[in-house]
Amino acid sequence: MFAPVYLDHNATTPLAPSVLDAMLPFMGARTGNASSRHEYGREARRAIDEARQRVAHAVGAHPTEVVFTSGGSEANNLFIKGAATARRVFSRDSGRFPCIAISAIEHPCVREPAMQLAKAGGRVREVGVDAMCRITSADLRAALEPIEGDAPAHRPAVVSLMLANNETGVIQDIAELAPLVAASGAWLHSDAVQAFGKLPINFRVLNAAGLNALTLSSHKIGGPQGAGALILDKRVELVPQIAGGGQERGLRSGTENVAAIVGFGLAAELAQSTLEARAKAQRALRAQLESTLHKQGATVFASAAERLPNTTFFAFDHVDGETLVGRLDRAGFAVASGAACSSSQPEASRVLLAMGITPALAKGAVRVSVGHGNTTHQIDHFVTALAATLDELRGLRAVCV
Ligand SMILES: Cc1ncc(COP(=O)(O)O)c(C=O)c1O
Repeated sequence: MFAPVYLDHNATTPLAPSVLDAMLPFMGARTGNASSRHEYGREARRAIDEARQRVAHAVGAHPTEVVFTSGGSEANNLFIKGAATARRVFSRDSGRFPCIAISAIEHPCVREPAMQLAKAGGRVREVGVDAMCRITSADLRAALEPIEGDAPAHRPAVVSLMLANNETGVIQDIAELAPLVAASGAWLHSDAVQAFGKLPINFRVLNAAGLNALTLSSHKIGGPQGAGALILDKRVELVPQIAGGGQERGLRSGTENVAAIVGFGLAAELAQSTLEARAKAQRALRAQLESTLHKQGATVFASAAERLPNTTFFAFDHVDGETLVGRLDRAGFAVASGAACSSSQPEASRVLLAMGITPALAKGAVRVSVGHGNTTHQIDHFVTALAATLDELRGLRAVCV
């Protein structure tokens, strides 16, 4: 089969062969329900416990702080809805959901649950970002203040600020922002799905600064799809969103996906032990790509901000991002337009609009995210194909005008 060059690692990553090997027995002879009181069950429980330790160790957390979920989306929903339900504001007439503050650049799986709660009587405040996609202390402080004339209960009680953005790759200074949230009395969560495996993360340090919870996903780090975790400060009591048999400390009922959790655990360990070397190699590929993009006249978004080492988000004037991605696909390169998770929607990227980028330029956005297996050779081929595609598209435009 013809295999295009994969340059979309922020969407998902190939399963590491050693991870697959570790998972396979749990899809075959070692099938057991971790709640069963026989050897098969005990074996599954031991495997989950080991994975829990591995995930905890990879982010500097305690194993008892790891709540396994089906992925990043579920972990984000668990925190947003579970925290908002736990912190309902009881007034004389109702028990309404509290105000939730989220940044303007959150992934839809943070934004949408917050919006659902707003429809059910809560409120959502958006924390803006600057032109480099950064959340500033001043904007966060303003979002945490009670609005004049508003009841004090309308101050945010739940806050979610992502650690690194999936589109631009921009990294937020959560250690600096967390104390502001803690001082306001709100609970703080951070979506670390894209940061995990690309940046060192220490939950203990962030927790001491005021962060209460962190979301991780397995399939962004060479693990299987369908596994993730919420790393949760045990002083924070969430209302579970899936009730039942009481698995995962009662926070997430349902028979555990043992094979996926085992794969996630090993992938987390590998991601952590190889982080520095991978980051260095990815930074070099990104520099190689961006130096050519600049020469070709591209705008590289948030290029002056601290970003994930593997991510480049760019656009060319008067070139449609969807069209470019389609042409590059035919030329043998898999890249994303706008946010990968919403590639079916042709609207301009919400993240870029929040940064003040014009809708016209934002519609041209293309994301390249490098990862395991990518080489300088592939980047050379990619920029050559890109130049040819741009010539073709510009030629077509000239004919049409
Ligand atoms: C920043 C961010 N958060 C959450 C998710 C969702 O994670 P999952 O695919 O594990 O549900 C993604 C996936 O693209 C993401 O990029």
